[in-house]
Amino acid sequence: MLKKFQRWKKEQQTGERPLSDRKNELLKYEVPQHIAIIMDGNGRWAQKRSLPRMIGHHEGMKVVRTITKAANNLGVKVLTLYAFSTENWKRPKIEVEFLMKLPEEFLGTFLPELIEENVQVRVMGHLEDLPPHTLRAVEKAMNETKHNTGLILNFALNYGSRAEMVEGIKRLAADYQQNQLEIEDINEELISSYLMSKELPDPDLLIRTSGELRLSNFMLWQLAYTEFWFTDTLWPDFTEEDFVEAIEDFQHRGRRFGGV
Ligand code: IPE
Ligand code: IPE
Ligand code: MG
Repeated sequence: MLKKFQRWKKEQQTGERPLSDRKNELLKYEVPQHIAIIMDGNGRWAQKRSLPRMIGHHEGMKVVRTITKAANNLGVKVLTLYAFSTENWKRPKIEVEFLMKLPEEFLGTFLPELIEENVQVRVMGHLEDLPPHTLRAVEKAMNETKHNTGLILNFALNYGSRAEMVEGIKRLAADYQQNQLEIEDINEELISSYLMSKELPDPDLLIRTSGELRLSNFMLWQLAYTEFWFTDTLWPDFTEEDFVEAIEDFQHRGRRFGGV
C-alpha cells in the first residue's frame, strides 16, 4: 500500500505516466512471449546495507513474486528465471545451503497463489544434484501446477548452458550409437530438442540486473537472437516499473533475424 502511494506521489511530482496507463499501452503492441532474467545483485544489495548476503537473497525472492504476477498479467507465456548456476556451488557452503532452502520457502509461501493464478511451474537444470529437500519442493510444485495453462514460470536451478550442451550431446551421441538417428538428421531443431529448454520458444527478451554485462553461462544456444536489456538496478530493488520499462524498450527495437 505504502509503495503504491509513493509511486502515485512520484508520478504526480515528476509528471510520469501512471504505471497502469503504461501497461495498457504495452498491450497494444507485441508483448515478448518468453522473457528470461538473470537475477543478479542480491549480495551487493545486502552488502550496501551492511547486512549478510542471505538477506539480499531473501529480499530477491519477494521480487520473484512481483515480477511473476506482472508477467502473468501482461500475458507473457514463459518467464525463465536464473536462480542458481552450475558455477554457484563455488560459493561458501553456508550461502549455498541458504540458496537451496529458498525454493522451499518460496513455494511453501506462494504455491497456493501460483495455483490460483493458473501459473505452471517448471525447473530446468541438473536436478539430480540438488539436495533432496530442494528437489522435493520443486517436484511438488511442478506436479501440482502441471495442468495450469497460464504463465510458465521456468526456474533455471543448478543450470549452466555448457553443462546442458555437454549432457545433450552425450544423449544425442548415444542415440546415434543405438541407430536412433542418422548424421543427416542433425539440424538446429534436433539439437534444440536435446536441450533442457525443449518445448519452450527461445527467449525474446533477456534482462540482467546489477550492471554486469555478461551471460554467465546462461542459455547460450537459445539467446542467439534475443534482445538484451541491462540495468544497474540490483535485483532486490527491481520493480514492476523496471520490468515494464524493459518491455517498452523491447517494443521499440527492430528485430531483423539476419534479414533487412
Ligand atoms: C544473484 O545475486 C543470485 C545468485 C547468483 C544466486 P548474487 O548473489 O550473485 O549477488 P552479487 O552479484 O554478489 O551482488
Ligand atoms: C549468474 O550470476 C547466476 C544467477 C543469477 C543465478 P552470478 O553472480 O553467479 O554471475 P557472475 O559470477 O557475476 O558471472
Ligand atoms: Mg552475482
